[in-house]
Amino acid sequence: MTVTKEQVLEHLAKIPSPDGTPLPATGALSEIVASDGKVFFSINVDAGAVQAWEPVRKRAEEAVRAIPGAKSAMVALTAERKGGPAAARAPQAAPAAGGRAGHTHGHGAGQGPSGVPGVGSIIAVASGKGGVGKSTTAVNLALGLRDLGLKIGILDADIYGPSLPKLLAIKEKPQTIGGTRLKPIERYGLTVMSIGFLIEEETPMIWRGPMVMSALTQMLREVEWGTLDIMVVDMPPGTGDAQLTMAQQVPLKGAVIVSTPQDLALIDARRGIAMFKRVNVPVLGIVENMSYFLCPQCGTRSDIFGHGGARHEAERLKVPFLGEVPLEMSIRETSDAGLPIVATKPDSPEAAAYRAIAARVRDELGGQGAAKPAPKIVIEA
Ligand SMILES: Nc1ncnc2c1ncn2[C@@H]1O[C@H](COP(=O)(O)OP(=O)(O)O)[C@@H](O)[C@H]1O
Ligand SMILES: [Mg+2]
Repeated sequence: MTVTKEQVLEHLAKIPSPDGTPLPATGALSEIVASDGKVFFSINVDAGAVQAWEPVRKRAEEAVRAIPGAKSAMVALTAERKGGPAAARAPQAAPAAGGRAGHTHGHGAGQGPSGVPGVGSIIAVASGKGGVGKSTTAVNLALGLRDLGLKIGILDADIYGPSLPKLLAIKEKPQTIGGTRLKPIERYGLTVMSIGFLIEEETPMIWRGPMVMSALTQMLREVEWGTLDIMVVDMPPGTGDAQLTMAQQVPLKGAVIVSTPQDLALIDARRGIAMFKRVNVPVLGIVENMSYFLCPQCGTRSDIFGHGGARHEAERLKVPFLGEVPLEMSIRETSDAGLPIVATKPDSPEAAAYRAIAARVRDELGGQGAAKPAPKIVIEA
């Protein structure tokens, strides 16, 4: 048995909005995604009316969950912030990272999405395709940046395969503060939020376009991030519509592209770079992951995937090369056990490789890593 959009609308018709209008008649509903018993949609309201809408959101979620055949329901409130108050949230109109000749500039010039208050820079970790070690790189890069003395947050926006709960062994769900805002989880000194916290475990998702955006907007705006120097975003792999929308809508200061050295992966990496350039997000550089293999028994180094491909590609495309990470059992083991190597084996050569990459990322960001004071954000203990 599965749930249809029509059924969802039928049930939502019994729920009044704050002014009494039945929910489907308000025009505030996004498209409803109902797939395999999982239902997701958002309600778009004025920022000032969020408090009044929260009980409606809750009732809607409960009503959908009660439909026979419904396995899960997620209803997000998205608030549009426009005009005056947005000015206070806009990012500094500082020059974009690097300042290299021919380098595109980010969202600093006043156009593009507004920043997240208290967050200095938001950077994307992206890959042209899945399975290249994007999430492992994102986590260890975040920890490497932490080791540089920066306050780092990490946001898992990989709607197709959220992996931060696993990589950081997080079992608990974030708590709600005051009914509408979420308190992120702290791990290894990182402030962590994952789309995986909000949905049932390992659910393959088909959220697209507006769905993706409302969940992402919620995670950027409705989470008490506090003051961060840098927020690292683990992006969904690929260069499709969902990725493009995200790259456009998140106020990114730059993107780190992760690739393996194989030709095929590099073609995808190239697409990733093109995508960020298209939306004027500076590419901070490429990381070559699973770059070479050091035999733990004999110490012989083998370039199984053809080491160096990403460095050449970076040169060719005139983007910085940020460094290479070997294919290493201890990276896989620590990663899969939720004990990221930079945090748990800081003296290993692999951890050093990640820290060197982190230092280059910070340099590419220029002075933009520093946090601005967070206006009016209080984290409850
Ligand atoms: N440098 C590496 N050496 C060994 N295994 C790695 C390395 N990087 C990632 N892995 C492993 O590869 C798999 C995919 O990595 P993951 O970070 O989840 O990729 P993605 O986010 O791109 O899908 C995981 O099992 C991870 O532990
Ligand atoms: Mg991943």
